[in-house]
Amino acid sequence: MAKPKRRYVCSACGSVTHRWQGQCVDCSEWNTLSEEVPETTFSAKHDLSSGGRPLDFEPLDAPGAPLQRRSTGLAEFDRALGGGLVPGSAVLMGGDPGIGKSTLLLQAAARIARDGGTVVYISGEEAAGQVRLRADRLGLAGAPILFASATSVRDILTTLRGMASPALVVIDSIQTMHSDMIEGAPGTVSQVRASAFELIRYAKESSAALVLVGHVTKDGTIAGPRVLEHMVDVVMAFEGERSHQYRILRSLKNRFGPVDEIGVFAMAGAGLEEVSNPSSMFLSGRENPVPGSAVFPAMEGTRPVLVEIQALIVKLQSGATPRRAVVGWDNGRLAMLLAVLEARCGLNFSSAEVYLNVAGGYRLSDPAADLAVAAALVSALADKPLAAGAVWFGEVSLAGEVRPVAHASLRLREAAKLGFSEAILSPDSGQAVPGISQHAAPHLSRLVDRIFAEA
Ligand code: TYD
Ligand code: MG
Repeated sequence: MAKPKRRYVCSACGSVTHRWQGQCVDCSEWNTLSEEVPETTFSAKHDLSSGGRPLDFEPLDAPGAPLQRRSTGLAEFDRALGGGLVPGSAVLMGGDPGIGKSTLLLQAAARIARDGGTVVYISGEEAAGQVRLRADRLGLAGAPILFASATSVRDILTTLRGMASPALVVIDSIQTMHSDMIEGAPGTVSQVRASAFELIRYAKESSAALVLVGHVTKDGTIAGPRVLEHMVDVVMAFEGERSHQYRILRSLKNRFGPVDEIGVFAMAGAGLEEVSNPSSMFLSGRENPVPGSAVFPAMEGTRPVLVEIQALIVKLQSGATPRRAVVGWDNGRLAMLLAVLEARCGLNFSSAEVYLNVAGGYRLSDPAADLAVAAALVSALADKPLAAGAVWFGEVSLAGEVRPVAHASLRLREAAKLGFSEAILSPDSGQAVPGISQHAAPHLSRLVDRIFAEA
């Protein structure tokens, strides 16, 4: 018999090769190929076009049952999910170790259990004693959660199929699960895929909502094949800096609702607290105006969030290569803005180190941040604080023009609500909003002149 061909699977993109290589040819990631036992292949002699069962087509315009959702008991969690957990759906929750995934899910599990729903919490990472300690600390010790410490998917499914369908099943984490149908240690691509497949099938059949916790690799993607993201209905990321209090629950994919909605939490002594007014939280601690600080009204889904952008510029005397360091924003975007400020506005950053930080451990992805970042950079370079009551937003083009961005009036209203009195933005940004005056900056050079001219 011919020796089965070796196969290697990329843990980043799931592509298969028959030769080991240091770099995946499909996604160009390094050191992501690992050997896998070949799956059973069916012989090609079967013709797939006959012998099956004819399908029943269904009209899409017929009124279907409205989507049921179950509240997690945490409004911020529900909001990020698009309104709550959908029965029979599978949610993948990724996040750095120690960010609070288990804490968040235990809190949600306890609320659902206290509301009368059956909740099964399976941990492959922690023993009952550890989880009990955490529940005690969170004041949830009395909640009737069905907890088990297990890693065998067969044991888990046997147990689940032997009981009435629960409202929620939490698997913490999918990388610790093991299916005996497949060879290989827990955490390998094939194990993760096979375990998730079986658990998701159970969820669909039983109408239990399933939450899979997923580990995150160094570069921030969920460990295991990208196919895991295709298999589930909802992908959520729990983000934040461990050294900061704030946590953001973001939905990256949602078959039942909008993406980009966020839930905001603060990690406190007694677990995660919901933050219904994130702007005041991200801006807290701002004292007198200092050079290099600009306030940016960001949009997260439909929700405006005011954040502070801080820039620091250190002029170098020697000819050493200056550093550029960014926390909470895109490196490439900073390089672009610096280039625009040099080429279009005549500023010189070439012999200066540039540090950029978004306060509170917040991560910005909104392109409208350009203008606020530019304002912070120019203010730092000029060593002049920006006006204390001002916010800045707009996208900057390579020519240095300031372009309008979406949701200007929502941003302005949030800024006005928090006591800001003026906004510097692109021309044509829409209607006026009471309480806040608008100053159009058609070009970055105008902004630069204005900041350098300020007393
Ligand atoms: P955890 O939920 O175990 O993180 P994950 O499951 O994502 O790995 O959270 C662990 C961290 O949260 C730990 O560093 C301590 C902190 N924490 C608090 O600050 N307060 C609390 O009440 C709890 C339960 C945890
Ligand atoms: Mg955990």
